[in-house]
Amino acid sequence: MTEGFIGPEEIVNKKKEFIIPCLNHFYQEPVQFVRGRGQYLYDSDGRQYLDFFAGVSVINAGHCHPEITARICAQVQALQHVCNIYLTQPMVELAERLAGITPGRLQKSFFCNSGSEANEGAVLLARLATGRSELLALQDGLHGRTYLGMSLNGLSMWRTDPNPAGGISFAPNAYCYRCPLRLTYPNCDLACADEIGRVIEVSTSGGVAALIAEAVQGNGGIIVPPPEYFSRVKEILNRYGALLIIDEVQSGFGRTGKWFAIEHWGVAPEIMTVAKALGNGVPIGAFIAVPEVADRYTRPGASTLGGNPVSMTAGLATLDVIAREGLAENAARLGAYLKEQLLALQQKHPLIGDVRGLGLMLGTELVRDGKEPAAAEADRVLELMKNRGVLIGKNGRSRNVLAFQPPLVITGSDAEAMLHHLDEVLTEVEQGPR
Ligand SMILES: Cc1ncc(COP(=O)(O)O)c(C=O)c1O
Repeated sequence: MTEGFIGPEEIVNKKKEFIIPCLNHFYQEPVQFVRGRGQYLYDSDGRQYLDFFAGVSVINAGHCHPEITARICAQVQALQHVCNIYLTQPMVELAERLAGITPGRLQKSFFCNSGSEANEGAVLLARLATGRSELLALQDGLHGRTYLGMSLNGLSMWRTDPNPAGGISFAPNAYCYRCPLRLTYPNCDLACADEIGRVIEVSTSGGVAALIAEAVQGNGGIIVPPPEYFSRVKEILNRYGALLIIDEVQSGFGRTGKWFAIEHWGVAPEIMTVAKALGNGVPIGAFIAVPEVADRYTRPGASTLGGNPVSMTAGLATLDVIAREGLAENAARLGAYLKEQLLALQQKHPLIGDVRGLGLMLGTELVRDGKEPAAAEADRVLELMKNRGVLIGKNGRSRNVLAFQPPLVITGSDAEAMLHHLDEVLTEVEQGPR
């Protein structure tokens, strides 16, 4: 081990002693990461790993991108913080840039520090704009770790508070592989979307402020609704005077092959939330709304560090790099290739039950004996891939979906390398435990 690093064993010991135990880590034999560059991470022994998880969709522009790092360092040296009661330039510049790349008439932003905070703010804004308080969310959705964010989660694993917030009703999601209504697309005629209207009629007062939904459900297991889904959902929400909040915290900034995943459905929400990849590793979050909704939030609202010059500069630099290096286009091109190859692996490996996703937000659901979720097998695949120097993720309500969400800077040969190892590892896991 290189001098100065305490190593994984010691970190695990200190974690047990000093970190609240809700924070789990991947792997039976974890490693200590000490350096990152582009699509690669390096551990305390100097070993290189191909990163196919990107800190959960954060490092879209690659680890420690030289331009982003340089601009952050220059800003830290010039001015780190003054709080947003004073005027600074990077915040308004980033807001203007977001208005330019987000769909529809989304225009006015509020900056905060995380995805959870962005979703809390978006809900507050929807309530202020509509004068209503009830909310809708989707099963298998994930929106945060704060009290309200957690209460909006449609995944029991992430609903820790024993007394979640009331006034939230859940509708079935468009999870076609395991349809909650036991129907089959397209014969279902999008019954799950229609259920949103039924939930409003049956389970609420009728006065719903908003539906919050991810365009592609990330933690739920990379669940992609059918092409007509969001336009039907929007029609239903319009009928009941409810707003649409799209959570792009995980799917935003080129990940799915477009700036934002919701663009694949051609639908523009009234409010959108972003975080993660906007800062390429620097803490950041924002909600952005159409002017007539945004303008209803006039009572004082501020975040001490939200909009700080360093995070805003990181955001501006990240957007420049994503645009200039054509990273959304790379995600579309390599994502299409990877998906095709994962579908080919599905023909060979009975463990792969389903392959889904858009761009470089891809997932394969592992199953055994028909459709039984194969969570232990997913863990083993992750461990063996890591031992071969490839980091992939996992998610899904049963934690049996392998997630492929690399930095968008990966090349064709990185995709080949990951697929080669995955093929061999799946064969090994299918042969059973040793
Ligand atoms: C879709 C989505 N929304 C919100 C969040 C919460 O973001 P944060 O961890 O920055 O609070 C996450 C985190 O994974 C997410 O994936």
